[in-house]
Amino acid sequence: MVCTSGLVVAPLLVVFVGSQVLVTISIVQGIREQLQKRAPPFATYTWIEDDVPEYFPVSGGPTLVLTSIEESVRYGIQEPEAYYEWAYNAPVGEGGNVRLGPNHRLFVTSFAHQLHCLLTFRTLLNDEGIPDGRALHHSEHCLSFLRQHTLCAADTTLEPDDTFSRNFTSQRVIADRKCVRTESYYETTRDMWMEWVAFKHRSTNTSL
Ligand SMILES: *[C@@H]1O[C@H](CO)[C@@H](O)[C@H](O)[C@H]1NC(C)=O
Repeated sequence: MVCTSGLVVAPLLVVFVGSQVLVTISIVQGIREQLQKRAPPFATYTWIEDDVPEYFPVSGGPTLVLTSIEESVRYGIQEPEAYYEWAYNAPVGEGGNVRLGPNHRLFVTSFAHQLHCLLTFRTLLNDEGIPDGRALHHSEHCLSFLRQHTLCAADTTLEPDDTFSRNFTSQRVIADRKCVRTESYYETTRDMWMEWVAFKHRSTNTSL
């Protein structure tokens, strides 16, 4: 009796153990793939020429949060507070410039650069006359830069078709979207900016 049930149980046990082994292997492979995708630690870079990380290190990594894309009475062009509202989007310090690595090498993050371009357009739209010279060249650079980044992201979200018939007072929200939580970026940039200021202060004091 025991023998018979043992004959039945044994193959089942083999199948069970086998499937557990396969599951374990796939989990280990998954973890390995995730680890391979991780950026190498900062200490592995020489920070010379192209030997630099691809992305700015956001503490905790990029997280997505539900964000309303909506019409706003803020971020106008001519209102007295408009300049400050647009400027408020710029990260603390040098407007998105960050200093990384042992030599405090200067970088700008792409999204801060894009925000800078939008800020430029707001200023130009508020200015009198048509931009020329350096301002014209800068706007051409910004237009093309935003064009390429829009194409690069190629966001294919389907939006409602009532943009121009909507009552923006009662229907402000166009859509709720999962967006990168930018607060982490602003916080990290602020901390790095403080470190840079402290470093500059120390260097100035040392050289005196
Ligand atoms: C839009 O909505 C507001 C608030 O509900 C209302 O007072 C206003 O009359 C609406 N405008 C139009 C054009 O329907």
